[in-house]
Amino acid sequence: MSPKYFIREFDKHDHTSSYEIKRFLKKNHFKSLGSGEFCTTYGNDELPYVVKVNNKPDPAAYRFYSIMISKKYVSKHFPKIYDLKTYVSSYGEFKFVVFMERLYKLNNKNLKNVNKTGNGFLQWMMEHPSSIISLKCPNVSSNEWQKKNEVTIKTINAMVDSTSNYATSDFHEGNLMLRLPTGDVVLTDPLCSLRT
Ligand SMILES: Nc1ncnc2c1ncn2[C@@H]1O[C@H](COP(=O)(O)OP(=O)(O)OP(=O)(O)O)[C@@H](O)[C@H]1O
Ligand SMILES: [Mg+2]
Repeated sequence: MSPKYFIREFDKHDHTSSYEIKRFLKKNHFKSLGSGEFCTTYGNDELPYVVKVNNKPDPAAYRFYSIMISKKYVSKHFPKIYDLKTYVSSYGEFKFVVFMERLYKLNNKNLKNVNKTGNGFLQWMMEHPSSIISLKCPNVSSNEWQKKNEVTIKTINAMVDSTSNYATSDFHEGNLMLRLPTGDVVLTDPLCSLRT
């Protein structure tokens, strides 16, 4: 089932809670791939896309995905987003649902699958003053990558700066994922909402 068709099926229902969305996903054979502080991501091994369901208000992530969807394909270091939906919880809070490409965990074991550009990006991310990434990366220079990727750098920095009153950068290794089979490194989730 293509993402477009699946999103059309999703839109046939008036979604009112994460509980109800999860029931819809279960019916379509999506299983939880894991949860973070704000979201749970669901995937179906037969399909090349996942659905990330927001459980707790996260304006920073919402901002990131809305930038991604309005400025499609800035670079291969950002996730491909098929759609972004919102629903209102019973407490009147806006929550979101993201339909995005399926990616794979980046850990010390599969670093060997990272391509040359991915290694340059990884190095740049690790050198970033806000980085809390603890991967054992090959010691390559990020200079060449930086010269060719000014737009990616400007986008990441502007995103962090423009949300600094309610968010902080969230550069941990769980938010860097691998696109297969190309070996691109993708920053899935660069912002973390501050507690209010
Ligand atoms: N595009 C994706 N493809 C496959 N798995 C994914 C994808 N995006 C996130 N995941 C997985 O979903 C799980 C939950 O992470 P996610 O980033 O969705 O939650 P989060 O609340 O934003 O996390 P955090 O605030 O800790 O960054 C993680 O195990 C992550 O590896
Ligand atoms: Mg995350």
